[in-house]
Amino acid sequence: MTLLSVNIDHIATIREARRTNEPDPITAAAICELAGAHGITVHLRGDRRHIQHRDVKILRETVKTKLNIEMAATKEMIGIALEVVPDQVTLVPELPGEITTTGGLECTRNQEAITSAIKHLQSNNINVSLFIDPAESQIRAALSLGARTIELNTALYSDATLRNRETQQGTEALAAVKQAAELAQSKNIVVLAGHGLTYRNVRAIADIPAIVELNIGHNIIARSALVGLERAVREMLALL
Ligand code: PXP
Repeated sequence: MTLLSVNIDHIATIREARRTNEPDPITAAAICELAGAHGITVHLRGDRRHIQHRDVKILRETVKTKLNIEMAATKEMIGIALEVVPDQVTLVPELPGEITTTGGLECTRNQEAITSAIKHLQSNNINVSLFIDPAESQIRAALSLGARTIELNTALYSDATLRNRETQQGTEALAAVKQAAELAQSKNIVVLAGHGLTYRNVRAIADIPAIVELNIGHNIIARSALVGLERAVREMLALL
């Protein structure tokens, strides 16, 4: 069985749309865990557009499975990771103004910042995962930087399968993820994957034996808004 870490950033996005106190990602994390999720993921962005420092501090106390914080390899973020001590930090590239993470870390460049972050985090017993594109050069570079865990970026596959049609790009992107996962596994790297996965395209990725865990956020939160809407309206009507 492939493990699932639920990314709850967009619960915080709804809260921050009103700068208020609900929905609370802490409650969301507990619900995900009660439903059987194997981990909780949040992305603490430099611009704090959704998840806040307060959230990661409380999640550290409340998450009972595995707390994974995605962050850029900046001095500020590494400081917060060392204060909070999550089970795992996923290092991701972060571009100002981007809607979501747009690509994997460039492990063949930026080596100093990444190596230094890995060393600081690992020496504090925090597992480090590198979010990388499914390319041989990135896997070899991640390995040389000291990574023991990687998360393969499935964005190309997700984009190509969004319309639910079989396309050449989708087939090629899936093959690239599979090939990268097998190469990394052969080097004893723990392989995770995610980005843009949906209820319709997840099966083929989950069927890759080398991938042990998927990190899925937006599509689960999007579905929860719709499957929960009828009940929410009925509960309001009952009050009126
Ligand atoms: N993995 C990483 C590194 C991400 O940045 C994200 C998005 O925050 C995800 C996985 C999850 O992507 P999605 O929200 O599209 O499922």
